[in-house]
Amino acid sequence: MVQKISVNQRREIGKRSPLIYGQFIEHFHRQIYDGIYDPGNSLSDEDGFRTDIIEAMKKIGTPVLRWPGGCFVSSYHWKKAVGENRTPFFDKAWRVEDSNSFGTDEYIKLCRKLNCEPYICTNAGTGTAEEMSDWVEYCNLEQEGEYAKWRIANGNPEPYHVKYWSIGNENYGFWEIGAKSAEEWGRLTAELAKMMKHVDPSIELSAAALADISWNINLLRHCGPFLDWISIHQYWDMMPQINNPASYEQCMAFTDQIDRSVCEVRGILTAMRLEHKIKIAFDEWNLRSWHHPNVHTIEQGRSKEEYLTPRDKNDDNSTYTMADAVFTACFLNAMNRNCDIVGMANFAPVLNTRGCIYSDKSGIVLRSTYYVFDLYVNYMGDIVIDTWERDEASHMTVTGKNGTAADVKILDILATKWSDRPGIAVAIVNKHVSEAQHIELEFGGLEGQAVLYTLNGPSEDSYNDMDNKQVEIVRHNLGQAAGKLSLVIQPHSVNVLQI
Ligand code: AHR
Repeated sequence: MVQKISVNQRREIGKRSPLIYGQFIEHFHRQIYDGIYDPGNSLSDEDGFRTDIIEAMKKIGTPVLRWPGGCFVSSYHWKKAVGENRTPFFDKAWRVEDSNSFGTDEYIKLCRKLNCEPYICTNAGTGTAEEMSDWVEYCNLEQEGEYAKWRIANGNPEPYHVKYWSIGNENYGFWEIGAKSAEEWGRLTAELAKMMKHVDPSIELSAAALADISWNINLLRHCGPFLDWISIHQYWDMMPQINNPASYEQCMAFTDQIDRSVCEVRGILTAMRLEHKIKIAFDEWNLRSWHHPNVHTIEQGRSKEEYLTPRDKNDDNSTYTMADAVFTACFLNAMNRNCDIVGMANFAPVLNTRGCIYSDKSGIVLRSTYYVFDLYVNYMGDIVIDTWERDEASHMTVTGKNGTAADVKILDILATKWSDRPGIAVAIVNKHVSEAQHIELEFGGLEGQAVLYTLNGPSEDSYNDMDNKQVEIVRHNLGQAAGKLSLVIQPHSVNVLQI
């Protein structure tokens, strides 16, 4: 059946922020140490940063990098990781020693090399309002007070102008160090926000939240006047305890209502008349949750084999297939569609663990999800425009990891144009595991050269690894198009059509 799709350039949905293609990096496993910060490796620069990883992150236009956690942050004390005498500390979140050799100054230096915005998540677990506002002093004051002077003494005379800050990580969860009740969170965040804004009123503040009415009402009632953002997180294929990745079909079930939490938080903001003041920062998301058994539980692992060694299972590159690429494209489509209220999203994480880039001492692997960011950052426009099916959209029924059936649309399509040049770019995702989809795309009076960029591999389970590249973007020149175009979209593929 040919699916007839219309695109209307004149019906603009909104301008998406580049920050929705943001990234996240945490002091966990090999993301920082033996990851992007690898002094002594011949692939690292004079500051100890891996140049191959930095180049890969720059190619996908990393606009913002959230750091240092994640659960790690909720017992992290930033002052121990600046200046000359860095004393190692025991990271109680992940139960490893952290050398503190990578701290705020190294992080800012990394952001400058990446040409991206820093986004610091603060410790609302064991931290205090004073400690957090001191961090803002250290980063953003010219020279007033103790901490700006400390930054200068550490060899950084100019303020860092860190614009984005969040209060806490997942303090709503029992697993988080320093977990809080909804009532506690509202009062605490208001006091933390007050002190941070007193130091630098120009910062944009977020706070940890989730799609929960009582948590968000307490947060927004007490702290809403101080907030510019509200943070939410989501992982779909939950594997913290058992590393059993969902199959392709099960992953397609996860695309059902992918923006459900955005819709719920939008509703709460609207009900409280804050939807034009506060934006959503989806500042941790990934199809696959991280595998780290026996640390988010009451009973901690006793031996390193019980809680530390299993983290290496995140490094299995065969886990990250076209299922991850298709899901990631569906998520980014949803964030573009909600660009009026979603102002930032951060893939969790960018490097190693479930990241879009894998590294070891010898080099890097660009996983399937990396190429989705490449397509959306480098081939899609910044203005979201309207598109609709002229007939009933094709659906398929898939069985989720929990055994229930989900009815999902086979195609996921997002149309965009550019604010600074003519033409359109349409993302077309075919979720079907085996059937190509025939499309007749109608795009009004526009005409021009048509090029289709297809991200795919030989099968739905294709992946990339060292010395084994199965997934890549292939360019197809389709010639001159005027007003409409017929296309055949490969199964399990992510495509961008440019006119
Ligand atoms: O699994 C990693 C953790 O996921 C992050 O540290 C935390 O923010 C989320 O619970």
